Amino acid sequence: MELNILTICYLIGSITFILGLKMLSNPATARKGNLIAAAGMAIAIAGTIFLYKDEDGNGLHNYGFIFGGLAIGTLVGFLAAKKVKMTAMPEMVSLFNGMGGACAGLISIIEFGRISNELGSGKTFHGTLLIIFLGLIIGSVSFAGSMIAWGKLNGKVKDFSFPGQQIINTIMLFVMVCIAGYLILNITPANSYLFYIILAGALLYGILFVFPIGGADMPVVISLLNSFTGVAAACGGFLYNNKVMLTGGILVGAAGTLLTILMCKAMNRSLLNVLIGSFGGDKGGAAQVSASGGTYKEISISDSAMVMAYANRVAIVPGYGLAVAQAQHICHELEKLLDEKGVEVIYAIHPVAGRMPGHMNVLLAEADVSYDKLLEMEDANDLFKTTDVVLILGANDVVNPAAKNDPASPIYGMPILEVELAKNVIVNKRSMKPGYAGIENELFFQPKTSMLFGDAKGVLQQLVSEIKSL
Ligand code: TAP
Repeated sequence: MELNILTICYLIGSITFILGLKMLSNPATARKGNLIAAAGMAIAIAGTIFLYKDEDGNGLHNYGFIFGGLAIGTLVGFLAAKKVKMTAMPEMVSLFNGMGGACAGLISIIEFGRISNELGSGKTFHGTLLIIFLGLIIGSVSFAGSMIAWGKLNGKVKDFSFPGQQIINTIMLFVMVCIAGYLILNITPANSYLFYIILAGALLYGILFVFPIGGADMPVVISLLNSFTGVAAACGGFLYNNKVMLTGGILVGAAGTLLTILMCKAMNRSLLNVLIGSFGGDKGGAAQVSASGGTYKEISISDSAMVMAYANRVAIVPGYGLAVAQAQHICHELEKLLDEKGVEVIYAIHPVAGRMPGHMNVLLAEADVSYDKLLEMEDANDLFKTTDVVLILGANDVVNPAAKNDPASPIYGMPILEVELAKNVIVNKRSMKPGYAGIENELFFQPKTSMLFGDAKGVLQQLVSEIKSL
């Protein structure tokens, strides 16, 4: 009877994960989807703690440790999520993902310890060892890699590479797989210490794998590491014959892989190029800004207010700078004000604007911007021709025409918002410094473009009061 209830708990867990994931694909349902999946997870955990019985009929014990761990984890997770700034979200995702990888690695260590006692007893463990090593290697790489990614995103870890690093990494991986293969077939108490060599190798590999990857590519790497954690967790599901853990792991693994592919596509780069290129690292930088010696013109707040207030359609292009300035609320106010004046306002959303997938959607949703006003890149591009003003707020790479015109550019081939098709383009940013890709933007020097310098929040506040007074 108890086992049946447990199976039902796991079934509820699995269904809510799938439902939650589906709901996460739309901003209107995302919050609810997250809660539904979390509730399913709570049911699966509670079921395991109170109803699980092993073959001998023993349930879980050590409740003090279990609830102590749960309480600490819940408190830390709750406080971290409450405190985190929107722009630091990828950092937190990376940290949490690393913890998932560490858990999967620990499961392998514990399970290896368990079978170690029976080595030499004549029993064979080929299948179990295969899963243990998979969980160990993938989980440890994910843990160590995520920690480096976290350090890079918060600026504590700098890019680091040395000649031949990729070759050394490949050799390391090959050696680890060979030792694991050897142990799976020939493990004895005398050579079981090699397990810990693999553990150390996997941790080192995770560090070396992420170290040289450029800063702008971190979200792609985090997404890839996220899929690793999913696969490692699925290995745990196999080991414990736990269906909900298996389903959860597979879903995370698949979602992470799909997201990685989509991000690479949106930047028009292959995964290999992301992993071995150093696009977006510290290299580009400010030195390139005035390389072309191009001239640009500035526009005042009052002139900007005037062109927008008398436009038929204004398209707002939000970017990373809008998130940094936390100017989403005042942006929504500007939109409402223009709306009252009979101006149609739309938001043009580039799939990799900001620093994480869906960054702009989440940011604008925070300010209650209606989802109907958010246009995806293709739809926005169709409308630019008939748009009077494009107002770019802290975006740069996603509107850089070099992606279309300059085959030598590192972002060549990346689909962009073709804002130059509109009648007027107003660019708000604080200086002529480049965006994350570290390259100059020729859009700023085009005759249609005017620069409106300043912090996005301050500029928008001034624009709002200026338009009110018109
Ligand atoms: P960026 O190209 O990074 O440009 C952001 C601009 O915002 C900067 O040029 C900066 O110029 C300006 N800015 C910063 N703080 C500001 C503030 N307080 N007020 C006004 N402006 C401010 O951003 P984007 O156009 O959103 O492009 C995103 C980049 O990240 C792309 O290269 C993309 O490939 C990369 N990336 C994104 C993702 C995801 S999933 N979103 C994943 C991987 C890589 P100033 O310093 O002059 O102000």
